[in-house]
Amino acid sequence: MNILRFQDLIAQGRVTGRRVFIRADLNVPQDDTGRITEDTRIRASLPCIRMALDAGAAVMVTSHLGRPTEGAFKPEDSLAPVAQRIGELLGREVPLRSGWVDGVDVAPGQLVLLENCRLNKGEKKNDEGLARKMAALCDVFVHDAFGTAHRAEASTYGIARFAKVACAGPLLSAEIDAITKALRAPKRPLVAIVAGSKVSTKLTILQSLAEKVDGLIVGGGIANTFMLAAGLPIGKSLAEPDLVEQALSVMRAMKARGADVPIPLDVVVAREFKADAPASVKAASDVAAEDLILDIGPKTAAQLADKLKAAGTIVWNGPVGVFEFDAFAKGTETIARAIAASPGFSIAGGGDTLAAIAKYGIEKDIGYISTGGGAFLEVLEGKTLPAFEILEKRANE
Ligand code: 3PG
Repeated sequence: MNILRFQDLIAQGRVTGRRVFIRADLNVPQDDTGRITEDTRIRASLPCIRMALDAGAAVMVTSHLGRPTEGAFKPEDSLAPVAQRIGELLGREVPLRSGWVDGVDVAPGQLVLLENCRLNKGEKKNDEGLARKMAALCDVFVHDAFGTAHRAEASTYGIARFAKVACAGPLLSAEIDAITKALRAPKRPLVAIVAGSKVSTKLTILQSLAEKVDGLIVGGGIANTFMLAAGLPIGKSLAEPDLVEQALSVMRAMKARGADVPIPLDVVVAREFKADAPASVKAASDVAAEDLILDIGPKTAAQLADKLKAAGTIVWNGPVGVFEFDAFAKGTETIARAIAASPGFSIAGGGDTLAAIAKYGIEKDIGYISTGGGAFLEVLEGKTLPAFEILEKRANE
Protein backbone atom coordinates (compact mmCIF):
# COMPACT_ATOMS: atom_id res chain seq x y z
CA MET A 1 0.00 0.00 0.00
CA ASN A 2 1.44 3.33 -1.01
CA ILE A 3 0.88 5.59 1.97
CA LEU A 4 3.13 8.10 3.67
CA ARG A 5 4.31 6.78 7.03
CA PHE A 6 5.05 8.95 10.07
CA GLN A 7 8.32 7.08 10.71
CA ASP A 8 9.55 8.09 7.23
CA LEU A 9 8.66 11.74 7.77
CA ILE A 10 10.59 11.72 11.05
CA ALA A 11 13.60 10.09 9.37
CA GLN A 12 13.49 12.83 6.73
CA GLY A 13 13.52 15.51 9.45
CA ARG A 14 10.08 16.78 8.44
CA VAL A 15 8.60 16.65 11.94
CA THR A 16 11.08 18.53 14.17
CA GLY A 17 9.62 21.81 15.41
CA ARG A 18 6.39 21.21 13.46
CA ARG A 19 2.82 21.15 14.70
CA VAL A 20 1.65 17.54 14.64
CA PHE A 21 -2.03 16.55 15.01
CA ILE A 22 -2.50 12.89 15.93
CA ARG A 23 -5.94 11.30 15.59
CA ALA A 24 -5.83 8.34 17.95
CA ASP A 25 -8.57 5.94 19.01
CA LEU A 26 -8.68 6.37 22.78
CA ASN A 27 -12.26 5.12 22.97
CA VAL A 28 -11.87 2.87 26.02
CA PRO A 29 -14.46 1.20 28.25
CA GLN A 30 -15.23 2.88 31.59
CA ASP A 31 -17.28 1.87 34.61
CA ASP A 32 -20.13 3.95 36.06
CA THR A 33 -17.68 6.13 37.99
CA GLY A 34 -15.67 6.91 34.83
CA ARG A 35 -12.77 4.63 35.78
CA ILE A 36 -11.08 3.10 32.73
CA THR A 37 -11.61 -0.66 32.86
CA GLU A 38 -9.42 -1.67 29.89
CA ASP A 39 -6.64 0.51 28.47
CA THR A 40 -5.21 -1.46 25.51
CA ARG A 41 -6.08 1.32 23.07
CA ILE A 42 -4.33 3.96 25.20
CA ARG A 43 -1.17 1.89 25.52
CA ALA A 44 -1.24 1.08 21.80
CA SER A 45 -1.40 4.81 20.98
CA LEU A 46 1.68 5.76 23.01
CA PRO A 47 4.41 4.81 20.50
CA CYS A 48 3.12 7.39 18.02
CA ILE A 49 2.87 10.09 20.70
CA ARG A 50 6.36 9.28 21.98
CA MET A 51 7.79 9.33 18.45
CA ALA A 52 6.32 12.78 17.85
CA LEU A 53 7.64 14.14 21.16
CA ASP A 54 11.07 12.59 20.64
CA ALA A 55 11.20 14.20 17.22
CA GLY A 56 10.69 17.61 18.84
CA ALA A 57 7.19 18.29 17.52
CA ALA A 58 4.43 20.36 19.12
CA VAL A 59 1.98 17.53 19.69
CA MET A 60 -1.82 17.64 19.68
CA VAL A 61 -3.73 14.40 20.18
CA THR A 62 -7.46 13.85 19.93
CA SER A 63 -9.94 10.99 19.92
CA HIS A 64 -13.62 10.31 20.21
CA LEU A 65 -15.00 8.73 23.35
CA GLY A 66 -18.36 7.03 22.93
CA ARG A 67 -21.04 8.53 20.75
CA PRO A 68 -21.91 11.88 22.37
CA THR A 69 -24.34 14.45 20.99
CA GLU A 70 -22.40 17.03 19.02
CA GLY A 71 -22.34 20.47 20.62
CA ALA A 72 -23.78 19.22 23.95
CA PHE A 73 -20.97 18.55 26.43
CA LYS A 74 -21.72 16.16 29.29
CA PRO A 75 -19.05 15.35 31.92
CA GLU A 76 -19.16 11.63 31.05
CA ASP A 77 -18.08 12.44 27.47
CA SER A 78 -14.83 14.02 28.63
CA LEU A 79 -11.41 12.62 27.82
CA ALA A 80 -10.22 13.73 31.30
CA PRO A 81 -9.74 10.14 32.58
CA VAL A 82 -7.83 9.37 29.37
CA ALA A 83 -5.58 12.43 29.83
CA GLN A 84 -4.83 11.24 33.33
CA ARG A 85 -4.03 7.70 32.19
CA ILE A 86 -1.73 8.93 29.40
CA GLY A 87 -0.06 11.18 31.95
CA GLU A 88 0.57 8.22 34.28
CA LEU A 89 1.95 6.09 31.46
CA LEU A 90 4.20 8.82 30.06
CA GLY A 91 5.16 10.22 33.46
CA ARG A 92 4.21 13.76 32.52
CA GLU A 93 1.31 16.17 32.89
CA VAL A 94 -1.11 15.98 29.93
CA PRO A 95 -3.26 19.13 29.73
CA LEU A 96 -6.74 18.67 28.26
CA ARG A 97 -7.96 21.49 26.00
CA SER A 98 -11.61 22.08 25.17
CA GLY A 99 -12.98 24.47 22.53
CA TRP A 100 -9.87 23.82 20.47
CA VAL A 101 -11.12 23.97 16.89
CA ASP A 102 -10.20 27.63 16.33
CA GLY A 103 -6.69 27.44 17.76
CA VAL A 104 -4.41 25.44 20.03
CA ASP A 105 -1.52 26.90 21.96
CA VAL A 106 1.23 24.26 22.00
CA ALA A 107 5.01 24.56 21.70
CA PRO A 108 7.60 22.07 20.40
CA GLY A 109 8.23 19.37 23.01
CA GLN A 110 4.76 19.87 24.51
CA LEU A 111 1.83 17.46 24.40
CA VAL A 112 -1.82 18.46 24.72
CA LEU A 113 -4.92 16.30 24.53
CA LEU A 114 -7.83 17.87 22.66
CA GLU A 115 -11.25 17.14 24.16
CA ASN A 116 -13.55 14.47 22.60
CA CYS A 117 -13.63 15.33 18.89
CA ARG A 118 -17.18 14.01 18.54
CA LEU A 119 -18.38 17.01 20.56
CA ASN A 120 -17.56 19.24 17.60
CA LYS A 121 -20.54 20.03 15.40
CA GLY A 122 -20.08 18.43 11.98
CA GLU A 123 -17.65 15.71 13.11
CA LYS A 124 -19.77 12.67 12.26
CA LYS A 125 -20.94 14.08 8.93
CA ASN A 126 -17.38 14.94 7.95
CA ASP A 127 -18.26 18.62 7.57
CA GLU A 128 -15.81 20.34 5.24
CA GLY A 129 -15.64 23.60 7.22
CA LEU A 130 -14.78 21.75 10.42
CA ALA A 131 -12.24 19.54 8.66
CA ARG A 132 -10.51 22.58 7.11
CA LYS A 133 -10.27 24.28 10.51
CA MET A 134 -8.71 21.17 12.08
CA ALA A 135 -6.30 20.83 9.17
CA ALA A 136 -5.22 24.44 9.70
CA LEU A 137 -4.12 23.61 13.26
CA CYS A 138 -1.20 21.51 12.08
CA ASP A 139 1.69 21.02 9.67
CA VAL A 140 1.39 17.22 9.78
CA PHE A 141 -1.74 15.13 10.31
CA VAL A 142 -1.12 11.62 11.62
CA HIS A 143 -3.92 9.06 11.37
CA ASP A 144 -3.18 6.48 14.04
CA ALA A 145 -6.75 5.51 14.96
CA PHE A 146 -7.07 2.01 13.54
CA GLY A 147 -10.25 1.37 15.60
CA THR A 148 -11.86 4.27 13.74
CA ALA A 149 -10.32 3.60 10.33
CA HIS A 150 -13.70 2.44 8.97
CA ARG A 151 -15.29 5.81 9.67
CA ALA A 152 -15.07 8.85 7.40
CA GLU A 153 -15.46 11.68 9.90
CA ALA A 154 -14.02 15.20 10.01
CA SER A 155 -11.13 14.28 12.36
CA THR A 156 -10.28 11.09 10.46
CA TYR A 157 -11.06 11.71 6.81
CA GLY A 158 -11.77 15.39 6.15
CA ILE A 159 -8.65 16.56 7.95
CA ALA A 160 -6.58 14.08 5.94
CA ARG A 161 -7.89 15.70 2.75
CA PHE A 162 -6.94 19.23 3.73
CA ALA A 163 -3.85 18.94 5.98
CA LYS A 164 -0.56 20.09 4.41
CA VAL A 165 0.82 16.59 4.99
CA ALA A 166 -1.24 13.51 5.91
CA CYS A 167 0.34 10.24 6.96
CA ALA A 168 -0.29 6.95 8.76
CA GLY A 169 0.87 6.51 12.34
CA PRO A 170 2.70 3.38 13.50
CA LEU A 171 -0.39 1.69 14.95
CA LEU A 172 -2.49 2.24 11.84
CA SER A 173 0.25 0.81 9.61
CA ALA A 174 1.09 -2.09 11.93
CA GLU A 175 -2.56 -3.17 12.20
CA ILE A 176 -3.23 -3.28 8.48
CA ASP A 177 0.11 -4.99 7.80
CA ALA A 178 -0.46 -7.66 10.48
CA ILE A 179 -4.05 -8.48 9.57
CA THR A 180 -3.51 -8.63 5.83
CA LYS A 181 -0.34 -10.70 6.25
CA ALA A 182 -2.08 -13.20 8.56
CA LEU A 183 -4.94 -13.66 6.14
CA ARG A 184 -3.13 -13.55 2.79
CA ALA A 185 -2.31 -17.28 2.82
CA PRO A 186 -3.66 -18.54 6.14
CA LYS A 187 -2.61 -21.91 7.44
CA ARG A 188 -5.65 -24.21 7.25
CA PRO A 189 -8.00 -25.11 8.73
CA LEU A 190 -9.02 -21.48 9.12
CA VAL A 191 -11.63 -21.14 11.87
CA ALA A 192 -13.49 -17.92 12.62
CA ILE A 193 -15.50 -17.12 15.73
CA VAL A 194 -18.06 -14.41 15.20
CA ALA A 195 -20.20 -13.71 18.22
CA GLY A 196 -22.31 -10.83 19.35
CA SER A 197 -25.87 -9.87 19.96
CA LYS A 198 -27.18 -9.48 16.43
CA VAL A 199 -26.82 -11.20 13.06
CA SER A 200 -27.88 -7.92 11.42
CA THR A 201 -24.77 -6.05 12.56
CA LYS A 202 -22.46 -8.85 11.43
CA LEU A 203 -24.33 -10.26 8.44
CA THR A 204 -21.90 -9.04 5.82
CA ILE A 205 -18.91 -10.42 7.70
CA LEU A 206 -20.68 -13.77 8.15
CA GLN A 207 -21.45 -13.89 4.42
CA SER A 208 -17.94 -12.99 3.43
CA LEU A 209 -16.33 -15.44 5.89
CA ALA A 210 -18.64 -18.19 4.63
CA GLU A 211 -16.67 -17.98 1.35
CA LYS A 212 -13.27 -18.24 3.03
CA VAL A 213 -13.19 -20.18 6.31
CA ASP A 214 -13.25 -23.90 7.05
CA GLY A 215 -15.20 -23.50 10.28
CA LEU A 216 -17.47 -20.66 11.34
CA ILE A 217 -18.31 -20.65 15.04
CA VAL A 218 -21.18 -18.35 15.90
CA GLY A 219 -21.98 -17.23 19.44
CA GLY A 220 -24.28 -15.04 21.51
CA GLY A 221 -27.51 -13.77 19.94
CA ILE A 222 -26.10 -14.68 16.53
CA ALA A 223 -25.94 -18.36 17.56
CA ASN A 224 -29.56 -18.17 18.74
CA THR A 225 -30.67 -17.06 15.28
CA PHE A 226 -28.67 -19.94 13.77
CA MET A 227 -30.32 -22.34 16.26
CA LEU A 228 -33.71 -21.09 15.07
CA ALA A 229 -32.59 -21.69 11.50
CA ALA A 230 -31.63 -25.24 12.48
CA GLY A 231 -35.16 -25.77 13.83
CA LEU A 232 -34.19 -25.66 17.52
CA PRO A 233 -36.24 -23.97 20.27
CA ILE A 234 -34.67 -20.86 21.85
CA GLY A 235 -37.38 -19.76 24.32
CA LYS A 236 -37.18 -16.02 25.09
CA SER A 237 -33.56 -15.71 23.95
CA LEU A 238 -32.31 -12.73 22.00
CA ALA A 239 -32.55 -13.53 18.27
CA GLU A 240 -33.66 -12.08 14.94
CA PRO A 241 -36.29 -14.42 13.48
CA ASP A 242 -36.53 -12.30 10.33
CA LEU A 243 -32.89 -13.14 9.54
CA VAL A 244 -33.31 -16.91 9.70
CA GLU A 245 -33.24 -17.10 5.90
CA GLN A 246 -29.85 -15.29 5.81
CA ALA A 247 -28.53 -17.61 8.51
CA LEU A 248 -29.63 -20.59 6.42
CA SER A 249 -27.91 -19.22 3.35
CA VAL A 250 -24.64 -18.83 5.32
CA MET A 251 -25.01 -22.45 6.49
CA ARG A 252 -25.69 -23.62 2.90
CA ALA A 253 -22.71 -21.67 1.52
CA MET A 254 -20.44 -23.27 4.11
CA LYS A 255 -21.83 -26.76 3.51
CA ALA A 256 -21.36 -26.43 -0.25
CA ARG A 257 -17.63 -25.91 0.41
CA GLY A 258 -17.40 -28.86 2.79
CA ALA A 259 -17.12 -26.46 5.74
CA ASP A 260 -19.46 -26.11 8.68
CA VAL A 261 -21.21 -23.82 11.16
CA PRO A 262 -21.38 -25.87 14.37
CA ILE A 263 -24.78 -25.51 16.03
CA PRO A 264 -24.76 -25.76 19.88
CA LEU A 265 -25.45 -29.24 21.29
CA ASP A 266 -26.17 -27.87 24.74
CA VAL A 267 -26.64 -24.45 26.32
CA VAL A 268 -26.73 -22.70 29.70
CA VAL A 269 -30.08 -21.06 30.37
CA ALA A 270 -31.68 -18.86 33.02
CA ARG A 271 -35.09 -17.30 33.52
CA GLU A 272 -33.71 -13.79 33.90
CA PHE A 273 -30.78 -11.76 32.56
CA LYS A 274 -29.08 -11.30 35.92
CA ALA A 275 -25.67 -12.14 37.36
CA ASP A 276 -27.24 -14.19 40.15
CA ALA A 277 -30.03 -15.81 38.11
CA PRO A 278 -29.98 -19.60 38.70
CA ALA A 279 -28.29 -21.23 35.70
CA SER A 280 -29.00 -24.67 34.27
CA VAL A 281 -27.44 -26.70 31.48
CA LYS A 282 -29.87 -28.11 28.91
CA ALA A 283 -29.63 -30.02 25.66
CA ALA A 284 -30.19 -27.57 22.80
CA SER A 285 -33.41 -29.41 21.89
CA ASP A 286 -34.80 -28.99 25.43
CA VAL A 287 -34.85 -25.20 25.77
CA ALA A 288 -38.20 -24.22 27.31
CA ALA A 289 -40.45 -21.33 26.28
CA GLU A 290 -39.45 -19.19 29.28
CA ASP A 291 -35.67 -19.87 29.02
CA LEU A 292 -33.00 -17.36 28.05
CA ILE A 293 -29.85 -18.85 26.51
CA LEU A 294 -26.89 -17.04 28.10
CA ASP A 295 -23.98 -19.35 27.26
CA ILE A 296 -22.99 -22.46 25.34
CA GLY A 297 -23.05 -25.69 27.33
CA PRO A 298 -20.04 -27.83 28.35
CA LYS A 299 -20.42 -30.39 25.52
CA THR A 300 -20.54 -27.65 22.90
CA ALA A 301 -17.61 -25.83 24.50
CA ALA A 302 -15.52 -29.04 24.50
CA GLN A 303 -16.42 -29.76 20.86
CA LEU A 304 -15.47 -26.22 19.79
CA ALA A 305 -12.29 -26.31 21.87
CA ASP A 306 -11.19 -29.42 19.93
CA LYS A 307 -11.80 -27.63 16.63
CA LEU A 308 -9.79 -24.63 17.81
CA LYS A 309 -6.90 -26.74 19.02
CA ALA A 310 -6.72 -28.36 15.56
CA ALA A 311 -6.94 -25.05 13.66
CA GLY A 312 -4.08 -23.63 11.61
CA THR A 313 -5.43 -20.08 11.90
CA ILE A 314 -8.08 -18.62 14.21
CA VAL A 315 -9.89 -15.32 13.83
CA TRP A 316 -11.79 -14.31 16.96
CA ASN A 317 -14.39 -11.59 17.34
CA GLY A 318 -16.84 -11.75 20.21
CA PRO A 319 -17.51 -13.77 23.40
CA VAL A 320 -19.87 -16.77 23.07
CA GLY A 321 -21.83 -16.05 26.25
CA VAL A 322 -22.51 -13.40 28.87
CA PHE A 323 -18.98 -13.76 30.26
CA GLU A 324 -19.36 -10.70 32.51
CA PHE A 325 -21.59 -12.92 34.74
CA ASP A 326 -19.59 -15.81 36.23
CA ALA A 327 -22.44 -18.32 35.91
CA PHE A 328 -22.45 -17.75 32.12
CA ALA A 329 -18.72 -17.30 31.51
CA LYS A 330 -17.59 -20.93 31.20
CA GLY A 331 -18.19 -21.15 27.42
CA THR A 332 -16.15 -18.03 26.67
CA GLU A 333 -13.43 -19.11 29.10
CA THR A 334 -13.17 -22.58 27.48
CA ILE A 335 -12.97 -21.01 24.02
CA ALA A 336 -10.41 -18.42 25.17
CA ARG A 337 -8.19 -21.06 26.77
CA ALA A 338 -8.48 -23.32 23.71
CA ILE A 339 -7.39 -20.45 21.46
CA ALA A 340 -4.49 -19.73 23.83
CA ALA A 341 -3.47 -23.40 23.79
CA SER A 342 -3.88 -23.85 20.04
CA PRO A 343 -0.68 -24.15 18.00
CA GLY A 344 -2.50 -22.24 15.24
CA PHE A 345 -1.92 -18.51 14.62
CA SER A 346 -4.67 -16.53 16.34
CA ILE A 347 -5.84 -13.04 15.62
CA ALA A 348 -8.41 -11.31 17.82
CA GLY A 349 -10.22 -7.98 17.83
CA GLY A 350 -13.20 -6.13 19.28
CA GLY A 351 -13.87 -4.47 22.63
CA ASP A 352 -15.58 -7.44 24.32
CA THR A 353 -12.97 -9.81 22.95
CA LEU A 354 -10.18 -7.68 24.42
CA ALA A 355 -12.02 -7.68 27.76
CA ALA A 356 -12.30 -11.51 27.66
CA ILE A 357 -8.61 -11.84 26.76
CA ALA A 358 -7.73 -9.59 29.72
CA LYS A 359 -10.11 -11.44 32.07
CA TYR A 360 -8.41 -14.78 31.36
CA GLY A 361 -4.91 -13.31 31.16
CA ILE A 362 -4.11 -14.88 27.79
CA GLU A 363 -2.67 -11.80 26.03
CA LYS A 364 0.69 -13.44 25.45
CA ASP A 365 -0.86 -16.52 23.86
CA ILE A 366 -2.74 -14.68 21.12
CA GLY A 367 -0.83 -14.25 17.87
CA TYR A 368 -2.08 -10.76 17.15
CA ILE A 369 -4.50 -8.55 19.11
CA SER A 370 -6.13 -5.79 17.09
CA THR A 371 -7.38 -2.57 18.68
CA GLY A 372 -10.18 -2.46 16.09
CA GLY A 373 -13.74 -3.68 16.54
CA GLY A 374 -15.80 -2.68 13.51
CA ALA A 375 -12.60 -1.75 11.65
CA PHE A 376 -11.12 -5.19 12.28
CA LEU A 377 -14.26 -6.85 10.89
CA GLU A 378 -14.28 -4.64 7.80
CA VAL A 379 -10.66 -5.52 7.03
CA LEU A 380 -11.57 -9.20 7.39
CA GLU A 381 -14.40 -8.63 4.93
CA GLY A 382 -11.83 -7.43 2.43
CA LYS A 383 -13.07 -3.81 2.37
CA THR A 384 -10.76 -0.85 1.79
CA LEU A 385 -11.24 1.36 4.82
CA PRO A 386 -11.67 5.14 4.34
CA ALA A 387 -8.48 5.82 6.35
CA PHE A 388 -6.34 3.95 3.85
CA GLU A 389 -8.25 5.19 0.82
CA ILE A 390 -7.62 8.88 1.68
CA LEU A 391 -4.01 8.36 2.81
CA GLU A 392 -3.23 6.56 -0.46
CA LYS A 393 -4.85 9.34 -2.43
CA ARG A 394 -2.77 11.94 -0.59
CA ALA A 395 0.43 9.93 -1.08
CA ASN A 396 -0.21 9.76 -4.83
CA GLU A 397 -0.81 13.48 -5.32
C1 3PG B 1 -14.83 1.22 18.30
O1 3PG B 1 -15.04 1.23 19.54
O2 3PG B 1 -15.03 0.22 17.58
C2 3PG B 1 -14.23 2.45 17.69
O3 3PG B 1 -13.73 3.33 18.64
C3 3PG B 1 -15.23 3.12 16.78
O4 3PG B 1 -16.32 3.61 17.52
P1 3PG B 1 -17.70 3.92 16.78
O5 3PG B 1 -18.30 2.60 16.38
O6 3PG B 1 -18.52 4.68 17.77
O7 3PG B 1 -17.37 4.73 15.54
